[in-house]
Amino acid sequence: MGEAILETVGLTKQFGGFTAVDDVSLELRGGDVTAIIGPNGAGKTTLFDLLSGRIDPTSGEIRFEGTRLDGLDPSAVPRHGIARSFQLTNVFPGLSTFENVRLAAQRRHTDLRPGAFLSHYRTLEAAETDARAVLDRTGLSAVASEAAASLSHGRQRHLDIAVALAADPDLLLLDEPTAGMSPEETKETTDLVADVGDEVTVAIIEHDMDVVADLADRVAVMHRGRVQAVGTPDEVRDDESVQEIYLTGGAVA
Ligand SMILES: Nc1ncnc2c1ncn2[C@@H]1O[C@H](COP(=O)(O)OP(=O)(O)OP(=O)(O)O)[C@@H](O)[C@H]1O
Ligand SMILES: [Mg+2]
Repeated sequence: MGEAILETVGLTKQFGGFTAVDDVSLELRGGDVTAIIGPNGAGKTTLFDLLSGRIDPTSGEIRFEGTRLDGLDPSAVPRHGIARSFQLTNVFPGLSTFENVRLAAQRRHTDLRPGAFLSHYRTLEAAETDARAVLDRTGLSAVASEAAASLSHGRQRHLDIAVALAADPDLLLLDEPTAGMSPEETKETTDLVADVGDEVTVAIIEHDMDVVADLADRVAVMHRGRVQAVGTPDEVRDDESVQEIYLTGGAVA
């Protein structure tokens, strides 16, 4: 459990008159796996959209490793070390597993070396080496040459994680990586995230409380745009205001 790697101060996002993320001040500690839980519509994905620079906050601040991220161009955020997976799988279906990951790794190498087009082949080689390592780490080496579209749902979600990892992030944001998975796939994904979480700081949006209890060092509970409670999985489970949210606040799969 380290220092805060990411900190939000009064982070707020309004869509028209509706406040989807409401005055959120939250710390993610370096080295932790932090789970973000809460009913449907609580603002979890919108929070990730803000942290990853996909959308701009209406007000408030985001500080990542000491740097202000709010107001930066979205394309600059990955270079600062934040990568994310999406609630819906976001891979190129016609490309192979390997090509998807290599592309992500290549983007990183290219980003790090602006104007280094003369060393294109070395960059490609470095990207291929990185891609192979990432496939190995995510258990996808056996399907490296298969088209992403032909993979099982579970493997497509793992590929999504692999693509995010290929950017070599300091912080990985995972939006419901176990959604729609069989119990076996969920177990594999939990193991994968635990493994990744040993090396990278992770924030994971997750509805399955068994997965949360297995993985999370800390849990933040969102409700109607606000962070209602933060604590260990046990603390949060015993929190009466949290129990009330889940009894009254909406369906949780
Ligand atoms: N671009 C948008 N324009 C208008 N409203 C939006 C937009 N994006 C999200 N919202 C609204 O903001 C609220 C929070 O949505 P969000 O997707 O962040 O919830 P969530 O906690 O991720 O829910 P789920 O568990 O269903 O994924 C919802 O009421 C949603 O309809
Ligand atoms: Mg969501």
